Amino acid sequence: HWSAEEKQLISSIWGKVNVEECGAEALARLLIVYPWTQRFFSNFGNLSSPTAIVGNPKVRAHGKKVLTSFGEAVKNLDNIKGTYSKLSELHCEKLHVDPENFRLLGDILVIVLASHFGRDFTPACQFAWQKLVGVVAHALARRYH
Ligand code: HEM
Repeated sequence: HWSAEEKQLISSIWGKVNVEECGAEALARLLIVYPWTQRFFSNFGNLSSPTAIVGNPKVRAHGKKVLTSFGEAVKNLDNIKGTYSKLSELHCEKLHVDPENFRLLGDILVIVLASHFGRDFTPACQFAWQKLVGVVAHALARRYH
């Protein structure tokens, strides 16, 4: 269900993403903007203020891990469900993350990409990425369905 243009828009942006920077920023923003998500990361140390969250090395490392995992979706656009079946099990059955939070993180990732790429993040790019984060969120929530 991806057009050739969508695939191209997704991979052209992905090829320029700094996974460490953008991943860290996306997770930090999630924890700051939607503070209830901090509950899942109580073993990450100091999350007491936006500054603490942004500077927290565990947040940075985990953000990189999460965005690296998005790379698997980019590589496997036609089999995102299969790609995330193990992670869905982890997030749903072990961690019990409310699937609404997958959507929130996806939306934040789109904001981070827009702020990093500026004018290059065209409306068509946003459309393709918004679709991608929606499919990823759906795949991660599959074990709830
Ligand atoms: C762990 C991906 C969203 C909470 C992980 C791991 C990956 C990942 C790759 C590491 C799994 C492993 O070590 O085997 C993703 C992706 C998301 C997402 C692609 C996209 C939407 C979320 C959200 C939350 C969350 C929204 C909570 C609000 C966690 C927690 C862990 C984890 C608590 C375990 C952390 C630890 O203690 O190491 N996730 N995740 N994830 N994720 Fe997610």
